[in-house]
Amino acid sequence: MGLSPFWRAGSSSTPPTLNSDKSARFRFSLKNKSVHFGLLAIIFLFATGCSSHDQSTWQALGPVAQKQLDLFNVLLWVMVAVFIVVEGILLYAIIRYRKRPGQPRPPQLHGHTVLELTWTVIPTILVLALGVWSVFTLFDIDKPDDKAGEPLHVTVTGHQWWFEFEYPDAGNGKRITTANDLRIPVDVPISLTLLSDDVIHSFWVPNLAGKLDMIPTRSNEMWFQADSNKIDQALPVTISGQCAELCGLAHALMRFDVTIMDQSDFDSWVESYSPPPTSSPKAKAGQQVFAANCTLCHTINGADDPAQAESRLKGFLTGGDIVAVPAPNLTDLRTRQTLAAGIIELSETNLINWIRDPEEIKPGNYMSDKAIIYQNENGIADLSDQEISNLVSYLLNLP
Ligand code: CUA
Repeated sequence: MGLSPFWRAGSSSTPPTLNSDKSARFRFSLKNKSVHFGLLAIIFLFATGCSSHDQSTWQALGPVAQKQLDLFNVLLWVMVAVFIVVEGILLYAIIRYRKRPGQPRPPQLHGHTVLELTWTVIPTILVLALGVWSVFTLFDIDKPDDKAGEPLHVTVTGHQWWFEFEYPDAGNGKRITTANDLRIPVDVPISLTLLSDDVIHSFWVPNLAGKLDMIPTRSNEMWFQADSNKIDQALPVTISGQCAELCGLAHALMRFDVTIMDQSDFDSWVESYSPPPTSSPKAKAGQQVFAANCTLCHTINGADDPAQAESRLKGFLTGGDIVAVPAPNLTDLRTRQTLAAGIIELSETNLINWIRDPEEIKPGNYMSDKAIIYQNENGIADLSDQEISNLVSYLLNLP
């Protein structure tokens, strides 16, 4: 904007009056940097609004997200109305009562009881009403309805840079540990315990609920539910979640899928949760590659053993050069849709590329940093193409 230079006290020259220098005035010209910036900001705003990605707080798929959206809409439109009224009066006053040539000094007023009461009482009522509504919403979404049925419990642990999901009882008492792919039955309240093993992360599924921090040494509780009457596609439907707290180098690459399933599909997934079969010689060879190179950090034969998870975490926290660290459980990898914490599609080619050079796909990941096979000059896996191919056949249950 056309700013005049600052005038300092003690300066010999007189302070410049506003608009005294015509060349310093703001002009709307495409050569003006402020105009460039303004146009870019507008384009950016529209571009972000055009995202075709499925994450959206405007598309509530469950009761928690819906109540938060209702509250947001009330706050938004009340504030929009206040903005329009206040700015409208301001603009009217600026234009209607602007200084005109030859106009005498206007009468000087001090105090106006009615006006002052008006602009004190109305905002007070508004702020109180919105505050009370917010507090009631907070209580309302604190716990699922009593008639909503027994919740399914999931413990979510944030790691640099992936999400671990543990179902203490996914059905019939079966314990399941999985990673970066939260599966939930539709119309069932999901109660979540949020933990972190390293730094503060934030758990966020925009279509299902607001974000909540995952804090080391304490646990946070939240719940959400996906409602079948809010989903207009055939199930299963996959939506995205992500970490919403800057948590280190790969924070932007810390995402996860949430797959909303019919109860019967969910039950079959639980039923089929088991180590990949080794029916072919290739898969058998792959299993050996896995046993020799991956088992220090990854579990593949069912839910993680708590004692082993504990020792991996200890290894991570005490941080030697090469140690066992918490890593995604791979038991059900073959049933997932994405890889490397939701950042690329799970396919044979992508998995081969990921194993060969994870740093290329996800800079900062602990696999390339810690696993022995990457401790060489170029950071490429110390495995032959055949070994990687066997390993992928085993992990994905390929022929
Ligand atoms: Cu975890 Cu950002």
